[in-house]
Amino acid sequence: MTTGADIDSHWHEVATLAQLDPDFPVGVEVQGQKIGLFLLGETVHAVEDVCPHAYALLSQGFQEDGVIECPLHAARFDIASGKCLTEIGQRDLQCFPVRVQQGRVQLQLPITKAGA
Ligand code: FES
Repeated sequence: MTTGADIDSHWHEVATLAQLDPDFPVGVEVQGQKIGLFLLGETVHAVEDVCPHAYALLSQGFQEDGVIECPLHAARFDIASGKCLTEIGQRDLQCFPVRVQQGRVQLQLPITKAGA
């Protein structure tokens, strides 16, 4: 799903809270960046979606106990922190600020020098 609508300067509305499921992540794309949305308890987390090991979407992986497992070679990452838990994952994942306003999930991308 791609919406990418600007709300404030760099907040992007990407989903509604009702679309998120604690067992099934949702993949979105904002300004060309693939980002996975994960619901842990009442909290939404936005984490880069492409596995650092090779090309696989972590949002298509297996989510359990706050951990996402890559569907291709089983790298595991802590969703809340992005921390890589297995050597094959190679590095930690980038996490993005998230807020929920009136049931709408918004995330913030880093501001680029070009101001894009
Ligand atoms: S692509 Fe994710 S572990 Fe290989």
